[in-house]
Amino acid sequence: MILDCDPGHDDAFALIVAAKFADLLGVTTVAGNAPLELTTRNARIILDLCGSRAALHSGANKPLVQPPVFADYVHGKSGMDGAVLPEPSRPADSTRAIDFIIDTVRANSDVWLVPTGPLTNIALALTRAPDLAKRIAGISLMGGGRLGNRTPTAEFNIWLDPEAAATVFSCGAPITMAGLHLTHEFQASPTRIAAVEASHPRVGSLLAGLLRFFSKSYVDRHVGFVGPAMHDVCSVLALTHAHLFESSQKFVAVDVNGNHTRGMTVIDDRQLVQRPAATATVLERIDADAGFAAICEAVAACP
Ligand code: RIB
Ligand code: CA
Repeated sequence: MILDCDPGHDDAFALIVAAKFADLLGVTTVAGNAPLELTTRNARIILDLCGSRAALHSGANKPLVQPPVFADYVHGKSGMDGAVLPEPSRPADSTRAIDFIIDTVRANSDVWLVPTGPLTNIALALTRAPDLAKRIAGISLMGGGRLGNRTPTAEFNIWLDPEAAATVFSCGAPITMAGLHLTHEFQASPTRIAAVEASHPRVGSLLAGLLRFFSKSYVDRHVGFVGPAMHDVCSVLALTHAHLFESSQKFVAVDVNGNHTRGMTVIDDRQLVQRPAATATVLERIDADAGFAAICEAVAACP
């Protein structure tokens, strides 16, 4: 897989899980939770923490059309507040994430693209290389869902770059979608954060510090949450631990013009015999305890 991310606390754990359980061909970064320079720096730090030498290439520093907006109200000024993090040991390999995605897909079979931030890089790659949609095994993305978070109808990753998301959802490649209706079931409760902390003598407390910062952002702003939703990890687990999920096949489209629905993923849930052909595997349920056990196993594997 190629993990395209905007670390971001939950992206960080998606990286750690991918480094442990996936054949991680490379990591690309995009502006989203924080500016590109910070999401790239954060990715470099996390790759060091999990001892991964995967290639790292930075990509788009803004959405295709609308101006960039960041989520420092959730992830903090650094994009990954909550711990004193070591300085990264190495720079990114290049600023040419799009070329890296295209070249890697053309040189390898069965590559999954796993975007956990705005879909800008993926859309640019699909547009620049029209053969990509048929070459990839699929796209396992975190985004959208049956409810919004940035707006009542739009989830942040899709909302930030709806044009890119519309390109991705209509590209014809197999799509697996981890939307908010699923990821909100995957919360880092205090017990689960304590389990992460106990999973590694060196990085456990650092990662727990990140999660406790992330948790405060969620619990203070949401009714009924016991911790932060570990959104992005779901897109990796959907490939490495597919047995943990229930899913459905649905037609999904992205609205780009609505006054109140720009950035909404429209999922066709009608119970009709004749309805549009499914365009995505929509993840519906996760075995959250087993999913967190996988996170702890990945943390324990850090050097
Ligand atoms: O809406 C949740 C998504 O936005 C996650 O990917 C999180 O990291 C942020 O990017
Ligand atoms: Ca993200």
